[in-house]
Amino acid sequence: MKERNKLKIITAENYMHLSELVAQIIIKKVHEKPNAVIGLATGSTPIGMYQQLIKDYLKNGTSYEHIKTVNLDEYVGLSENHPQSYRYYMDYQLFKHINIKNENIFIPNGKNSLEACESYEKNIQHIGGVDLQILGIGHNGHIGFNEPNTPFSSRTHIVELADSTRQANARFFEGIEEVPKHAITMGIETILQSKQIILLASGISKSDAVNRLFSKEINENFPASALHHHSDVTVVVDKEAANYSPLSYE
Ligand code: GLP
Repeated sequence: MKERNKLKIITAENYMHLSELVAQIIIKKVHEKPNAVIGLATGSTPIGMYQQLIKDYLKNGTSYEHIKTVNLDEYVGLSENHPQSYRYYMDYQLFKHINIKNENIFIPNGKNSLEACESYEKNIQHIGGVDLQILGIGHNGHIGFNEPNTPFSSRTHIVELADSTRQANARFFEGIEEVPKHAITMGIETILQSKQIILLASGISKSDAVNRLFSKEINENFPASALHHHSDVTVVVDKEAANYSPLSYE
């Protein structure tokens, strides 16, 4: 049986504070290792963190010239310039505001092919692996787009999105029928190979998932619980999401 590690937790006062704390962790990494590989996430939660990175870039000139980024996931079937594609999101939320080089940006290409998955996986190894991976969490515990019952041993693969995930993400589209049914995502094993992982959760709607993450459960039915198999995970929550029971975790 694999070892169970203790997750570190930082409770921020509010969403702004959470965003500042996580941005500071990234900025510190960029200063320590100017050619670091940073794993990035999409969704609503990291938007404030990206805003803080941009603010710091403009004020302090932190340089991303030699930084490489790899994104967790992408919808299948959306072109790069579709406003809901994660490529578009990343350009808009971060990349066009900082001095990262286009050739150092890696995002799955949204094609439904085994080849695309394999080459994404190989490239992560090729660029030296992820130094610091940022994660969000879905209400059902998904990380990246690894839905419940994804094997913990999974590598980059194509997934069929859970109805609950499509419903949760429908707010960004004209309606649920517009939300793609498939996505390409780094696998759970791919994520666990990152040297350091930071998971963010904000708001009351995430408190059940956070509570479950800090329970004794390690089960493929709750993908984020795989993080207990990693030795350097910090969960950064705001007070609303932090409605967890420390006793259940001791
Ligand atoms: C999305 C993304 C995940 C993200 C999660 C939570 O479906 N694929 O990478 O972490 O769901 O998103 P949000 O931060 O909007 O709640």
